[in-house]
Amino acid sequence: MKEWQKETVYQIYPRSFQDSNGDGIGDINGIISRLDYLQKLGIGLIWLTPMYLSPGNDNGYDIADYYRIDPVFGTMDDFEKLLSEAHKRDIKIIMDMVLNHTSNENSWFKEALKSKDNPYHNYYIWRDPVDGHEPNNWVSKFSGSAWKYVPELDQYYLHLYDVTMPDLNWRNENLRAEIFKMLTYWANKGIDGFRLDVINNISKDKNMPNDTFNTPLDDGRNFYTNGPHVHEYIHEMYEKVFGPNKFVTVGELSSTPISEAVKYTNPKRQELSMAFTFHHVKVDYTNGKKWTLGHYKLTDLTSILSAWQTQMQRHGGWNALFWNNHDQPRAISRFTNDDEYRDQSAKLLAMVEFGLQGTPYIYQGDEIAMKNAYFTDIKQYKDHESINAYHEMLKNGMSEDLALQILQQKSRENSRLPMQWDSTKYYGFTTGQPWLKPQHHDDYSVEKVLKTKNNIFDFYRALIFLRKHKTVLVDGEYKLLNPKDNSVYSYERFNNKRKILVMANFTEHAQERDVAAGFDLILGNYGDMQLNQGKITLRPYESVMLEKK
Ligand code: NOJ
Repeated sequence: MKEWQKETVYQIYPRSFQDSNGDGIGDINGIISRLDYLQKLGIGLIWLTPMYLSPGNDNGYDIADYYRIDPVFGTMDDFEKLLSEAHKRDIKIIMDMVLNHTSNENSWFKEALKSKDNPYHNYYIWRDPVDGHEPNNWVSKFSGSAWKYVPELDQYYLHLYDVTMPDLNWRNENLRAEIFKMLTYWANKGIDGFRLDVINNISKDKNMPNDTFNTPLDDGRNFYTNGPHVHEYIHEMYEKVFGPNKFVTVGELSSTPISEAVKYTNPKRQELSMAFTFHHVKVDYTNGKKWTLGHYKLTDLTSILSAWQTQMQRHGGWNALFWNNHDQPRAISRFTNDDEYRDQSAKLLAMVEFGLQGTPYIYQGDEIAMKNAYFTDIKQYKDHESINAYHEMLKNGMSEDLALQILQQKSRENSRLPMQWDSTKYYGFTTGQPWLKPQHHDDYSVEKVLKTKNNIFDFYRALIFLRKHKTVLVDGEYKLLNPKDNSVYSYERFNNKRKILVMANFTEHAQERDVAAGFDLILGNYGDMQLNQGKITLRPYESVMLEKK
């Protein structure tokens, strides 16, 4: 068993974590000042979303220089200090690495624009116009066409994301050599791993432009998701960088079936340590569409989670477990009750996640039950994806009201609100004006939560502790109980010595269920349990973890 399989990862979105210089944007010195807090929580690794030099059109996922820290976050010295301060506390640092695209302000792209003969031109993906328009009908994940015309070259470049984020051409060996060199530079700094952004999109099908404009609207994902050479490219990174440096790596794998996720993460293949996949957080999409008002059925959620649990384990893959990250609205607002049952809901989600097989991730604020932003005006949003989607919805005839409601539910900006440290106006996040302002004052903060008895933070600490000390939670098999239950999610984890049972009531009504004889409570979000003669009554949003004597 590898250490990182027992550990918990904490995701920091630096821009919204802790500002130290009053400019309203979180920074590296802010993170350093909170390392003791994270150590107290008990996490073993931190994943930092990108802090490289960037114009910030996608909050750092648009990298202008892979070798520099953006001055907004601090200096390279600050970064090195963060690394050594984290290591002193036995916390590893995983850097986000974006290899599918760069910013259009990256010097590689600036060179690429100069001429078709420039050696950097082929670092990106270019196509000639077809009958005077885009080479194909693909849409960008940030709305509109995935192609941008450059008149000086009479060519289009591909951008699967923002128009300012051109896709890199991994078929070009020189590009790959540059990337390996750059990854080695970071490895030599002493970091402990990478979270690899949309890494399963880096190998595009050679024939993609043949998908012409006349075929039905398509986002083209079949032509670039888990493409023909992706496993070779990742294995090459493993051989050159990840393996020799004993890195912990996690791949962001959108739209990926279990069979592929197994390939990426089975250690025999020497690619990645673990996989982020997203089927469970798409469970409230209507007909697969994100920008809709969605509802979900618990049985859909539990059947997705269960398929990933059993099949990844059977075939030697490894899951990265999460409910939240900087791209998701808060799960507490989405799957549970963020109002009357806020504490219970936060703890229930934590318990369900930590009971599963894989490595759990906490996104900043989960440990104090942060919830959605509930913005009421499009002007409050900064995120290009959300703003573009809003305009697209209006263009398609939707009312402003409905479009805003949809954003309230689905926008990723919901999870980007600054961290709530104390009860002051901007929660001790900044002494200036925060880059993203909350709509309402929320009375949940680290200060308040830590003063409360049986608080959420301590609940997370208990779960982190349990995972370190009960190996059945790490290596035990998983079994879903009562697959048709639409109110209570019950599953077991077991090996030949121990058995753990997790039960979580996802409703605001009491639910009675059978429990086999011989189970004791290890942890529950109400502190006790109501078990009588083989029947447990689960109170609203109650969750319990039991162990067989
Ligand atoms: C996934 C990142 O998590 C997201 O924030 C970003 O917009 C896209 N990849 C593009 O890099």
